[in-house]
Amino acid sequence: MSRIAYVNGRYLPLSDAAVSIEDRGYQFADGVYEVCEVRGGLLVDERRHLARLDRSLREIGMARPMSAAALSVVLHETVRRNRVHDGIVYLQITRGVARRDFAFPPADTPPSVVVSARGNDRARIEQLAADGIAVITVPDIRWQRVDIKSVALLPNVLAKQTAREQGAREAWLVDAQGRVTEGASSNAWIVSRDGKLITHPLGHDVLPGITRAVVLDVVKAQGLELEERAFTVQEAYAAREAFVTSASQIVLPVVSIDGRPIGNGAPGLIATALRRDYHRHAELS
Ligand code: PDD
Repeated sequence: MSRIAYVNGRYLPLSDAAVSIEDRGYQFADGVYEVCEVRGGLLVDERRHLARLDRSLREIGMARPMSAAALSVVLHETVRRNRVHDGIVYLQITRGVARRDFAFPPADTPPSVVVSARGNDRARIEQLAADGIAVITVPDIRWQRVDIKSVALLPNVLAKQTAREQGAREAWLVDAQGRVTEGASSNAWIVSRDGKLITHPLGHDVLPGITRAVVLDVVKAQGLELEERAFTVQEAYAAREAFVTSASQIVLPVVSIDGRPIGNGAPGLIATALRRDYHRHAELS
């Protein structure tokens, strides 16, 4: 079965799905995106992802190209047409196609809207969660408004590639003060020796992860102690546990950072419990 993508009002086989070379996403990374988990054919936390999309659009001075209800129909229809049971749905909105000029194009330029969906091998992700993943640390060279879910991801791409080349699955980005901000495509968490969960607070220097928000609900429900503050690389090396969160992986335990084992080098109890309870707190639609 060939994969289908939604492109500006039409559902097309992936081989015919295209945008212009003058699309501002292609030329300037002038666009925003969302990734939602798909589970059992339903969207996980769609409401929160669409709320973050609205915020990202607002922050880059764009209007939502269609109503939330219409967007929801397109997301579900793309999942349905691709027969995705477990996987992700990807939505990208750019400032449209226009003669190349750094300044915004005329206000009547239609935005480009692309949606695609693909299945994941759920068993493989469960295996990753059972084994735990390795991460490395790299300098955070991104721009200063990474709270906007923009497609300007080149620093993230370079960080992720460095991780892969060093046999790790994720890179943790480190600011000029030696503190971990987040992962290349995930939020970063540690559990301190005295059992406190620590993750970077929201602000301009981390993406407000939807999975992060739901995990905070799980943390509260489990009565765990939480500190929303930046933590250093040294604290991470000494942590009892570490893990990452994102819509595509939910909660993945980290068992090594820069080649040093974390805790006893196996997935931690807290990360495993948060992963287990996640979907009880998430919304399915
Ligand atoms: N990435 N931080 C960054 C830089 C991210 O790219 C992501 C998600 C997250 C976690 O956000 P959420 O929990 O809302 O997925 C944090 C998605 C999955 C991606 O780009 O594929």
